Amino acid sequence: MDNLKRQVGIEAAKFVKNGMVVGLGTGSTAAYFVAELGRRVAAENLRITAVTTSSVTSAQARKLNIPLKDIDEVEAIDLTVDGADEIDQTLNGIKGGGAALLMEKIVATYSKDYIWIVDESKMVAHLGAFPLPVEVVPFGCGQLFRLFEKSGFKPTFRLDDKGALWLTDSGNHIIDLHMNEISAPEKLARLLDDTVGVVEHGLFNDMVKTVIIASETEGVKIVT
Ligand code: 5RP
Repeated sequence: MDNLKRQVGIEAAKFVKNGMVVGLGTGSTAAYFVAELGRRVAAENLRITAVTTSSVTSAQARKLNIPLKDIDEVEAIDLTVDGADEIDQTLNGIKGGGAALLMEKIVATYSKDYIWIVDESKMVAHLGAFPLPVEVVPFGCGQLFRLFEKSGFKPTFRLDDKGALWLTDSGNHIIDLHMNEISAPEKLARLLDDTVGVVEHGLFNDMVKTVIIASETEGVKIVT
């Protein structure tokens, strides 16, 4: 699996050219992309500016001497590369397994080009087997949890290793919805967008145009 993740990370880095502003995703697959960019910055004198999607990725980029800027300091983001938790046949996806969905969606929204890199296990017929992360404001999140329960969304609060409510980089909590199958992702996205207390959700509908997939049998392929 790590080898497949490394392959797509390296493949995606080939899209990065001198002078670009690059959005750096979060997660174990995106980390291979960031590592390859760091290698190219050192070995090839690749000149880029990066915007990151989490404190974890920022820390990795700093270690690799990849120049970073705040998202509001750059004019535009040329390309963002990120991982995903599930992708269906229409290239709608679920993200946020690493709890970075809010910053990931903001960076993706302001990117001219957006690529997901995944191993083949992430490609699914229907979204929903992976629990859908929803980032919620701490105030009233117990009420929101009960609303999700009543709606049949089977919520669980995400906890940290000490059993406390997970705190995102933006100081919010995560509720994971165990829906099993999401038959209408657009409808669910609209409902969550309209729910008070929801900051953002992990449905990334119609956002990505290119997915780089690695499989044991077929190698690396690019789907658009
Ligand atoms: C983080 C994310 C990740 O991109 C997603 O969870 C995939 O991670 P990994 O590459 O480790 O499987 O959305 O919030």
